[in-house]
Amino acid sequence: MMKILLFLFAGTCLLAAFPAPPNQPVVTTDPLKEAAYQILEKKCNVCHRKKNPFMVFKPRNMERRAEKIYRAVFVQQRMPKQTGTPLTEEEYRTLKTWLEQQNILP
Ligand code: HEC
Repeated sequence: MMKILLFLFAGTCLLAAFPAPPNQPVVTTDPLKEAAYQILEKKCNVCHRKKNPFMVFKPRNMERRAEKIYRAVFVQQRMPKQTGTPLTEEEYRTLKTWLEQQNILP
């Protein structure tokens, strides 16, 4: 009996020491970039990963691709394709705010 209790106690301690990771891992310490990345991940990468694997957005390449993102989403307005999930008003605002910080807007 004591052994079982000890076992349970040890298990609980282990769980407390290593909490389960949150669903969305935080990828950067800049909150605006993080928010923009989560939008790209949720609304763009879901499709690109299969249909356009050379354009999967990552925290380390999204700045470099900012101009392309801006053109596709805000100028030509052809992303996220009709078959994708549209961005909410708030997601558009967040993405635009981040893009404005990249010094690429006309
Ligand atoms: C349902 C699928 C799908 C979704 C969702 C999607 N894309 Fe795409 N995207 C594609 C495909 C397929 C291509 C390559 C063919 C083409 O350019 O139409 C592409 C190409 C692109 C390109 C390259 C175009 C160029 O002019 O070089 C960019 C940039 C892009 N997507 C950005 C985005 C962004 C940003 C989002 C999210 C807001 C997004 N896409 C969502 C399928 C998708």
